[in-house]
Parts: sequence; C-alpha cells; structure tokens
Amino acid sequence: MVTIQSVTKKYGNSAKAAVENLSLALVPGEIFGFLGPNGAGKSTTIKMIVGLLSQDTGTITVDGHDTLNETVLVKQRIGYVPDEPLFYEKMTANEYLQFICEIYRVPNEARQERIVRWAKRFSLHGVLDDQISSYSRGMKQKLGIVTALVHEPRLLILDEPMVGLDPKSAFILKEVMHEFCEGGRSVFFSTHVMEVAERLCTRVGIIMNGSLIACDTFHALQERSGSGDLSLEQLFLEMTDETE
Ligand SMILES: Nc1ncnc2c1ncn2[C@@H]1O[C@H](COP(=O)(O)OP(=O)(O)OP(=O)(O)O)[C@@H](O)[C@H]1O
Ligand SMILES: [Mg+2]
Repeated sequence: MVTIQSVTKKYGNSAKAAVENLSLALVPGEIFGFLGPNGAGKSTTIKMIVGLLSQDTGTITVDGHDTLNETVLVKQRIGYVPDEPLFYEKMTANEYLQFICEIYRVPNEARQERIVRWAKRFSLHGVLDDQISSYSRGMKQKLGIVTALVHEPRLLILDEPMVGLDPKSAFILKEVMHEFCEGGRSVFFSTHVMEVAERLCTRVGIIMNGSLIACDTFHALQERSGSGDLSLEQLFLEMTDETE
C-alpha cells in the first residue's frame, strides 16, 4: 500500500536530516499510528508520502506508484488532512467541496450526495452554505477531513487529525477511520494522543530525531519492554526519554 525505503530528507543547508534512512511498509487494511516528539519528523514524512516534499534519497511508493515520478496517480489514491488545513475561505464549504470534486474528477451525479453524506457525518450539513471564513477552528478541521474523503481515496493520511475536535467529532473520526480500513483500505496518521493510538492502531511507529526507533503492534512493544501492562503512553515516554 505504502512503501518507504531508506528515505532521507534535509531542509535547505541544515546539517541534520529531518528524516534519516526511514523504511517502513503499510499493509492493506491497516491503521498505522505515527508517533514521536515535536520536531521528530512526522509531518516531513507525511508531506513526502503525499507529494508535497521530495526526499533527497530513497523511494516512496503508493500502491506501487512512485511519489516522485507518478505524482498524479499517487495523489488520486490519497486523501490528506494536513496539520493546518487551508481553504479558499471566501468560498462556502459546499462550493469548496464541489471544487475539490472537480479536481479529483468525481462523477457529476455523485458529487452532491457524497458531499452531503460526509458533511452529515461530521454535523456540517447545516453550515455547508456558509462561508468557510465563518467556521470555527474545529469546524475547519472537520471540513478538512470531509475534503479528504469525498473523492473516495484508497489511502487516508492524517496529520494530527484530533486537534481541535470536540469529543463527539473525535469519536466519529475514529469510527470513520475504522470503517475506512474495512475492505482493505489503509490509514496512516500522526498523533500525540497515546490513548487513541493504543486503542485504534493495528501498528504504531515511533520516530525520534528523524529515525524510526520502534515499529510494531502495541502488544509486541509491551512484551519487548519486559512488562506486559505498560500503557502506550508509558512505553512512549520511556522510549523517547533523552535525559539519561
Ligand atoms: N520548512 C522547514 N524548513 C526547515 N526546517 C524544517 C521545516 N519543517 C520542519 N523542519 C524541521 O524538520 C524537523 C522535523 O519537523 P516535522 O515538522 O517533520 O516534525 P513533527 O514530528 O511533525 O513535529 P510536531 O509534533 O511538532 O508536529 C524539525 O527539526 C523541524 O525544525
Ligand atoms: Mg507535525
């Protein structure tokens, strides 16, 4: 589904790589949680997968398509929610979503039904005709999620998607992520919310200073720690502790 092989990325003349020799593979049906301290390289990795940044070395493929050479085929397959979704705020949400459907070539007759269906799911249907500039932060986050879903991608990539969501919306999003993976589609998301990762993910990867320091199921990480009852939060804090 997604294969990342020996990927390294440096920004500008920086001496240190933001992502260093990263390899991981996402299998169909998986919800993969990407964890790591601030500045670890999560967003950089995500931007390379979705084609917003180019890696310096290594390869990334999505459904076998190279992210550097087959950009359109890659983008067609991906629904992406950035860490700070940006919109044309003068548009209404409905106009904006119609525009997104146009870009992704969603068949005309399917557009409105899909927009309304996803907007309803996130309680945005009553404000679809409002200008996006009038939306609250959480409403914009939900619109970003709906934007990523309307073209029915094969792969959902979310960068800290829970930020700003109220409890019900966060619950719905978790439900949607779960449903999305049924039938073999996959989700890759970054989060700082360990409880969400612990409960939702089939596997988690932990990145630190640009390098992947762990990549496994929560239970395998527990076993490896020698203590079967540590929470993911406790494991994460232990693994990423730099004070020793
Ligand atoms: N546009 C940029 N120009 C230069 N350096 C950058 C840029 N974006 C990120 N970096 C650097 O790359 C490293 C990784 O940043 P990245 O945004 O990928 O971290 P992150 O894991 O997403 O962190 P956070 O949890 O805070 O979102 C950091 O050292 C950061 O300072
Ligand atoms: Mg980030």
